[in-house]
Amino acid sequence: MGHMQPFSLYSPAIDADPFPYYEALRENYPCYWCEDAGIWILSRYQDVFDAAQDWATYSSAQGNMIDELPGRAGGTLGTTDPPRHDRLRALAQSAFMRKTIAHLFPLTLDIANRCLERLCTQAEFDFVEDYSSQITVGLLFKAMGLPPRDHSDIRRKVILAVSTDKSAKGRTPEHLAAFKDLADFISAEVTARREKPTDDLITLLAQAEIDGDRLTEREVVLTSATFVMAGVESLSSFMSMFALNLHDYPQARRRVVADPDLCPMAIEESLRFNTSAQRFKRVATRDVDLHGKTIRAGDTVALAFGSANRDGRKFPNPDVYDIDRRPQGHLGFGAGKHFCLGSQMAREITDIAMRRFLARIPDFRLAVERLTWNSSSNFRSPVALPFIRE
Ligand code: HEM
Repeated sequence: MGHMQPFSLYSPAIDADPFPYYEALRENYPCYWCEDAGIWILSRYQDVFDAAQDWATYSSAQGNMIDELPGRAGGTLGTTDPPRHDRLRALAQSAFMRKTIAHLFPLTLDIANRCLERLCTQAEFDFVEDYSSQITVGLLFKAMGLPPRDHSDIRRKVILAVSTDKSAKGRTPEHLAAFKDLADFISAEVTARREKPTDDLITLLAQAEIDGDRLTEREVVLTSATFVMAGVESLSSFMSMFALNLHDYPQARRRVVADPDLCPMAIEESLRFNTSAQRFKRVATRDVDLHGKTIRAGDTVALAFGSANRDGRKFPNPDVYDIDRRPQGHLGFGAGKHFCLGSQMAREITDIAMRRFLARIPDFRLAVERLTWNSSSNFRSPVALPFIRE
């Protein structure tokens, strides 16, 4: 990688700013063997897009998270291939659609307003702790019918479950224990719903039925866990990234403040510019020759969505944050069969939450020395995003 350190999934410096590294990969090593994680990295738009479409060659059945959590592979829609995936997706979607979107809009507004009441009395606050995660945890717990008393404990476990440790180059026993606790907690809730069904998402998942086909107990637990992890973490992370973009590009922020109807366009550009879902995993089912390298059957491959979105072959001036861009075909939510099930919900909730936020707090400054990034092979997001009101 020339004068740069080799690309790594376990480098705090690369997590803080992966984009120059992605560029070096795209230009010089488009099919790159990442030594420390033992994984091929595909970084060009076309390669990532093609691989995401070609599930028969790039399988999800051994998991889609790099450093996959034990027990997930094969048990939920993100970790299966068709035809099993089609079945899980249809069952999960029928439950999800009934319980999300419209139901959650008033609640989003409600939580946002309550948070903002408090933030407007403070000179400084943490956008993640005090705003984005309050909203996403509140929403997801309500949708899933989980007890509010467990908010902070579960959120802590979700964060640990999506994290990796740099020096261990993977998961530590602490991360694995957090995921196990999360799965056990959800499993107990699933059992409780079987005895006493309610109208929440867990009950709907347990009851979902298409042509006599239902989810197994394990599938209900793992699919619920996916919703909690994606809903709590991916969504709050993305919202925080969006707020950070608006901070970093004040001209864009001023335009969105002046005309809130620009918010959806700005969200779309942020999904391209720095999605929280930077990379997901596949396993090759056959040998593939690509850019002079051979990916062998059984090798692990990372689809670097975050890099594909910065490929100048697809998006001219890719490193410019341009809310007028309308980035058709960006991969912020992935592509193909595994395209994010929560994409519409994520867009709408972010839109509601950020419009409210900007209406009350149009000017804010980042205490940049206290910005910290998470540690994860898949996701990139701030864990602390301290803003000072101006
Ligand atoms: C802005 C926030 C979000 C981002 C950036 C995001 C991103 C992604 C990406 C890139 C994938 C593809 C994974 C792969 O190809 O292996 C995905 C899949 C998925 N996402 Fe999201 N997601 C977000 C929010 C959500 C929310 C709120 C939910 C639901 C509560 C959700 C549920 C799912 C599910 C269930 C899948 C698996 C779909 C399948 O395999 O068929 N996501 N997401």
